[in-house]
Amino acid sequence: MSPRQPPRHFLSLLDLRDNEPMALIRRAIELKRLQHAGEPHELLKNRVLGMIFDKASTRTRVSFEAGMIQFGGGAIFLSSRDTQLGRGEPLEDAARVLSRMVDAVMIRTFEQATVETFAAYSRVPVINGLTDLLHPCQLLADMQTWYEQHGEMQGKTATWIGDGNNMCHSYINAARQFDFKLRIACPEGYDPDPAILGAAGSRCQIVRDPLEAARDADLVVTDVWASMGQEEEQKAREAAFAGYQVDRRVMSQARSDALFMHCLPAHRGEEVAAEVIDGPQSVVWDEAENRLHAQKALLELLLAGDAPG
Ligand code: CP
Ligand code: NVA
Repeated sequence: MSPRQPPRHFLSLLDLRDNEPMALIRRAIELKRLQHAGEPHELLKNRVLGMIFDKASTRTRVSFEAGMIQFGGGAIFLSSRDTQLGRGEPLEDAARVLSRMVDAVMIRTFEQATVETFAAYSRVPVINGLTDLLHPCQLLADMQTWYEQHGEMQGKTATWIGDGNNMCHSYINAARQFDFKLRIACPEGYDPDPAILGAAGSRCQIVRDPLEAARDADLVVTDVWASMGQEEEQKAREAAFAGYQVDRRVMSQARSDALFMHCLPAHRGEEVAAEVIDGPQSVVWDEAENRLHAQKALLELLLAGDAPG
């Protein structure tokens, strides 16, 4: 038997190399075309994706599951509550066992170290479906949406308004991978991780004032003020983030053709005004749909070409 090749994982956007980020976006657009045209594209026939969820999800679960079915394979939803993982089976053991049965594993969990440990013991690719630190799959969809609307991201400016959270971190990594500028408007005490920010160099800057941060931006993005796992901080965060809502005033600072994105679920009246998320500059429904297409391109990149099993 020939030695097994180490699997390729997607734990961060930075796991993509060379021209892969843009190639993946272009492939996602082609897969979207096939899907919309009703053309069969069973590119991962009989392959199985295991999906471990330690947190809630609508979009991530449905897009991965639908994508695998459209590819001629299947997906298994594994809630940690109903598996032995929830009863204390070591992650290392679960990784060794599951990766002998499925062709890839997607994990949504709290610690980034959980996906890293699982990947270290897995025979098959592991995909980060959101951790407290990063949400790289969402950024594939956001970048696809931005590219579809306005072409190359290189040299453009995005403005992040709100918490320096997992989405913000992935926007910083996206700025590196797709070569755009990012202004981050967050209240003091809610800054992104300094190591992630520092590694991006001068292209990513903190600009405290949301109006100044949004000036002439091509894209304005926000996310919830309290992420999953921070529910008890909701009230304190509402106070800290007052003044950081993306409303018409903020959008009026950006370019007239600027887009608005939000990974969803959204809280109208908190991080975003209804007039913005439901307004003409919002592309949040395309953004949500593109989770499906972008993740299919990712699954193909990680799995196609490998011998099944
Ligand atoms: N944006 C996103 O990841 O949505 P879900 O939490 O519904 O998966
Ligand atoms: N920052 C949010 C994103 C949800 C998709 C969270 O982690 O809950």
